[in-house]
Amino acid sequence: MNLTLRVWRQVGPGTPGRMVEYEARDISPDMSFLEMLDLVNERLMERGEMPIAFDHDCREGICGSCSLMINGMAHGPERGTASCQLHMRSFKDGDTISVEPWRARAFPILKDLVVDRGAFDRIIQAGGFITSPTGSAQDANSTLIPKNTIDTVMDAAQCIACGACVAACPNGSASLFTASKITHLGLLPQGQPERYRRALRMVTQMDIEHFGGCTLYGECQEACPKEISIDTITRMNRDFLRATLSEGRGAVAKAD
Ligand code: SF4
Ligand code: FES
Repeated sequence: MNLTLRVWRQVGPGTPGRMVEYEARDISPDMSFLEMLDLVNERLMERGEMPIAFDHDCREGICGSCSLMINGMAHGPERGTASCQLHMRSFKDGDTISVEPWRARAFPILKDLVVDRGAFDRIIQAGGFITSPTGSAQDANSTLIPKNTIDTVMDAAQCIACGACVAACPNGSASLFTASKITHLGLLPQGQPERYRRALRMVTQMDIEHFGGCTLYGECQEACPKEISIDTITRMNRDFLRATLSEGRGAVAKAD
């Protein structure tokens, strides 16, 4: 396949960027999107040019690093598929493909296609943990959890913190990410002690990081490579409301 790439190039944070056109020739349809970028980069370096910076790690859909806006869609055209699992057979010979970083106020661009997703780490630090002792692996089986509950927990636990939900949302909201963590931990028996304080603190941190609010566009669940449902946002809002009604926002300061 021969393709034309239009790639966002930006030297560093706060510097102006622009779309730059590259020819990607002799691309195998069996290559992943990242392998195609690797090949383009090899050819750029052979010519003495700066390679395109992009984030990646596992390349098997589990780490959430590969944050690429492809043809205006977070993670590209395949539903339920992270950029690293997207293959070039999803495109046609002769296509022009635009590749951009996540665009959100809370995710500043570091270089080319790489953004700073530290805001997600700070939301997790605010409450994405449990403190009850869980024992060792075999002890997990001694805490019985209803099948329906664990199915919902495991669906939410699939979140890989990629940020596609934020990038796809017209409000730049991190609600799907935050709600998946709150759902995952808040439904487990081990997550009960901090359940409402967790919702209060994580949602408050989400606001501090300048993510937008959720107005139920639903773009997040369409873009999510793990197809996490916006039902989790309903659960987050319910826990958050209960926490604020019973304790008030001042409870966050008290919890600290
Ligand atoms: S909810 Fe989905 S899109 Fe959002 S960070 Fe988690 S895996 Fe990525
Ligand atoms: S590189 Fe890990 S999910 Fe894509």
